[in-house]
Amino acid sequence: MEKSSLLCVFVVVVSLFGNLCRASEKVGIFELKKGDFSVKITNYGATVLSVIIPDQNGKLDDVVLGFGSIDEYKNDTTYFGGLIGRVANRIGGARFTLNGIQYKLPANDHGNTLHGGDIGFSDVIWKVEDYVKDRHLSLSYDSHDGEQGFPGDLHVSVTYMIIGRNRLAIRMKGKALNKATPVNLASHTYWNLAGHNSTHNILSHTIQIFGSGITPVKDNLVPTGEIRAVKGTAYDFLQPRKVGSRLSQVPGGYDINYVLDGGRDHNGLRHLHKAAVVQEHKSGRKMELWTNKPGVQFYTSNMLNETRGKEGFVYRKYGGFCLETQGFPDSVNHPNFPSQIVNQGETYQHVMLYRFTAHTTRH
Ligand SMILES: *[C@@H]1O[C@H](CO)[C@@H](O)[C@H](O)[C@H]1NC(C)=O
Ligand SMILES: *[C@@H]1O[C@H](CO)[C@@H](O)[C@H](O)[C@H]1NC(C)=O
Ligand SMILES: *[C@@H]1O[C@H](CO)[C@@H](O)[C@H](O)[C@H]1NC(C)=O
Repeated sequence: MEKSSLLCVFVVVVSLFGNLCRASEKVGIFELKKGDFSVKITNYGATVLSVIIPDQNGKLDDVVLGFGSIDEYKNDTTYFGGLIGRVANRIGGARFTLNGIQYKLPANDHGNTLHGGDIGFSDVIWKVEDYVKDRHLSLSYDSHDGEQGFPGDLHVSVTYMIIGRNRLAIRMKGKALNKATPVNLASHTYWNLAGHNSTHNILSHTIQIFGSGITPVKDNLVPTGEIRAVKGTAYDFLQPRKVGSRLSQVPGGYDINYVLDGGRDHNGLRHLHKAAVVQEHKSGRKMELWTNKPGVQFYTSNMLNETRGKEGFVYRKYGGFCLETQGFPDSVNHPNFPSQIVNQGETYQHVMLYRFTAHTTRH
């Protein structure tokens, strides 16, 4: 047998074994609960399945869009609730250069890479590291050197935790074990504060985004590299406004990265700053979101179209909104954007903190 075919057999055996190993990690559903606040997560894609919170009268609703079975998450193109990586959002031309080496990635979105490639972190089975019922769930995933084209082994972990009353924290980490690599994790939950099954879309929600700038994109949704002020434009949510108040000026809906004002400190660890506040007036529900990351992608589920979800409910365009805190899209190809490179031995850290309240809003 030639050396190359021996190697081939070895690779096949190892990858079969690898698949078996992964298959042996069971997929389960884990609940975190405090009082009438509860969250369900699966280790398939470290996905948030549901978040149940009271409205101003104590009526409980699930405010997260999703599917009724884990199987439906497997062929999903919406990324409902998924933990996105190794690099969330788009990488233009499905390539980047790091330390003089060009890395080619799967072109799974009109010639670009979207959400980590063909099989990103939202489509793998995570290992359950620690589950303290009603308190927290810690999951991990070992991404190997060359996986979806990315350099180096990366040990990733995420902890979902309920803290205090109606607060959910998500802590994401990624340790670059042997090579420098870009890392940009994001939680891709779709929200409708009136309930996932509401007959009202999210255009009547009020939103405030604490970002004075956006990173404008080309037709393919890849950033031009410019940072543009939002003041006076349809992207200006510095003061609370209805999501749909200027939709006619944003054909197709919002799908854009905001440059967060609290994220200006680019040295070392950023502290938590408020990214956004969203309110739904009928239910009185309010969601506040803090993060330590410099950007947040605001997406109004423009691509949703008759997607059959939980309890057979059919989700339509503008049926939910996403606020994905993260670095800026395509940072690997824009030296003027905050770097997403994690050097060998370093650890990427990303925190999201949600605070939910419900009270009567007077007009
Ligand atoms: C997912 O796709 C595979 C292969 O295309 C198919 O066999 C399977 O039935 C699909 N599953 C669901 C839940 O749609
Ligand atoms: C949505 O689900 C909640 C909780 O199951 C239920 O009370 C409510 O009636 C449903 N709303 C619609 C519009 O179906
Ligand atoms: C939305 O889905 C419907 C039914 O599946 C289909 O007829 C329609 O062409 C779709 N619209 C778009 C914009 O994709």
